[in-house]
Amino acid sequence: MRTPHGALLLLFIVACLRGAYSGGGWSRFTSIISFGDSYADTGNLIMWADPVLPGLLLKNLPYGETFFGHPTGRATDGRLVLDFIAEALGLPSMPPYLARGSNFSAGVNFAVVGAPALNLTYLQGLNLTVNPPINSSLHDQLVWFQKLKPSLCNGQGTDCFGSSLFVMGEFGGNDYISFLLSNRTVEQARPYVPQIVDSISRGLERLVQHGAKYIVVADIFPIGCLPAALTKLASPNKVEYDRHGCLKSVNRLGRYHNSLLRQQIKMLRYKYPHTKIIAAEYYKPFLAFLDMPGDFGLNSSTTLLTCCGAGGPPYNYDFNAGCGLPDVKACADTSQALQWDGFHLTESAYRAIADGWLHGPYADPPILHIAR
Ligand SMILES: *[C@@H]1O[C@H](CO)[C@@H](O)[C@H](O)[C@H]1NC(C)=O
Ligand SMILES: *[C@@H]1O[C@H](CO)[C@@H](O)[C@H](O)[C@H]1NC(C)=O
Ligand SMILES: *[C@@H]1O[C@H](CO)[C@@H](O)[C@H](O)[C@H]1NC(C)=O
Ligand SMILES: *[C@@H]1O[C@H](CO)[C@@H](O)[C@H](O)[C@H]1NC(C)=O
Ligand SMILES: *[C@@H]1O[C@H](CO)[C@@H](O)[C@H](O)[C@H]1NC(C)=O
Ligand SMILES: *[C@@H]1O[C@H](CO)[C@@H](O)[C@H](O)[C@H]1NC(C)=O
Repeated sequence: MRTPHGALLLLFIVACLRGAYSGGGWSRFTSIISFGDSYADTGNLIMWADPVLPGLLLKNLPYGETFFGHPTGRATDGRLVLDFIAEALGLPSMPPYLARGSNFSAGVNFAVVGAPALNLTYLQGLNLTVNPPINSSLHDQLVWFQKLKPSLCNGQGTDCFGSSLFVMGEFGGNDYISFLLSNRTVEQARPYVPQIVDSISRGLERLVQHGAKYIVVADIFPIGCLPAALTKLASPNKVEYDRHGCLKSVNRLGRYHNSLLRQQIKMLRYKYPHTKIIAAEYYKPFLAFLDMPGDFGLNSSTTLLTCCGAGGPPYNYDFNAGCGLPDVKACADTSQALQWDGFHLTESAYRAIADGWLHGPYADPPILHIAR
């Protein structure tokens, strides 16, 4: 009697694996709707760029070289966290909203490289340099969503988003980077944290009001570990660095943002018990990469060095020699690199983060726990 049971069990496992890898049918999600910045953009900025933002380096190789073989508008060598999430749910990669004529029935991506949580007019009113200087903020992306909603919901009534997975973020990273690149101090940025988190929280409420039932909310990276920040704010004073070599004060700002965001998520879960809000993390896995690079197949001697950059150690980052310029080359083995271009991570890192969002421990609850 053992053999048939064993055979049945095997068949069952095979069926599950097929369900998981060939996609379709097993998951409750039939679409993904994404809002965010360069950690999520799958092509909006490069479509926006022509002809108003000439010289965008993101349009050049080696961006995209690893998986696609050509630049796609993703700010990395290959795929983003969202691409791996979509794949695991058996869904296609989300087309960018600006790709007119796309079929958005299995998802749409509103994320734009550089998008802040606060709007352009407001940030520029604070005399901050916003790059690129376009109206792509969280609020602007929600306006796009509202415009598209009638066609997304065509004939589906009020439960139009019952099987959609919304992904919000990250947002906030670009607001803080605007402060730092405009020569403001961390102390000058800190009073804006509640306002930035509030803007994300209000965005989440808007999605709930539009009928979102499942929303993933991402926290922000440890910006003090990014080569661009490390180069811009380089200090001879060793006490400003933590044991990873990251800038303590910048990361403290990030943790403050993330703790306020977690409080808001708690409050929203209480206020909207019929919407499942998943708290997803970029911050913690990044620190795990620095702590135990070998566990993720990363080279421990290059975790703070830009793969696609110039200038050599300690960060291989030069503001005047950005990735995408003809003379700037990518490192030989991108799969062992953590940092891609000074602001963004490699596909290897994004794959590991996606894994933590799908299965835990970097999402609460893990996405696959609610997908069935
Ligand atoms: C859009 O894609 C869905 C499957 O994702 C398909 O069922 C539908 O027919 C497509 N619509 C058009 C107009 O191609
Ligand atoms: C921009 O943000 C400010 C501050 O939150 C707000 O008062 C203003 O109405 C916003 N402007 C636009 C055009 O959204
Ligand atoms: C921005 O700069 C202008 C001109 O230098 C100045 O008048 C204004 O007070 C500044 N605004 C803020 C918020 O710093
Ligand atoms: C952004 O939006 C504001 C408010 O709608 C507008 O005044 C401004 O001209 C826009 N800026 C750009 C660069 O499109
Ligand atoms: C910040 O300071 C640097 C060095 O002093 C200067 O070159 C740069 O133009 C300044 N940037 C802004 C946005 O003020
Ligand atoms: C890790 O990177 C260093 C510096 O680029 C290189 O010398 C070394 O060979 C790399 N290690 C492995 C295992 O590839």
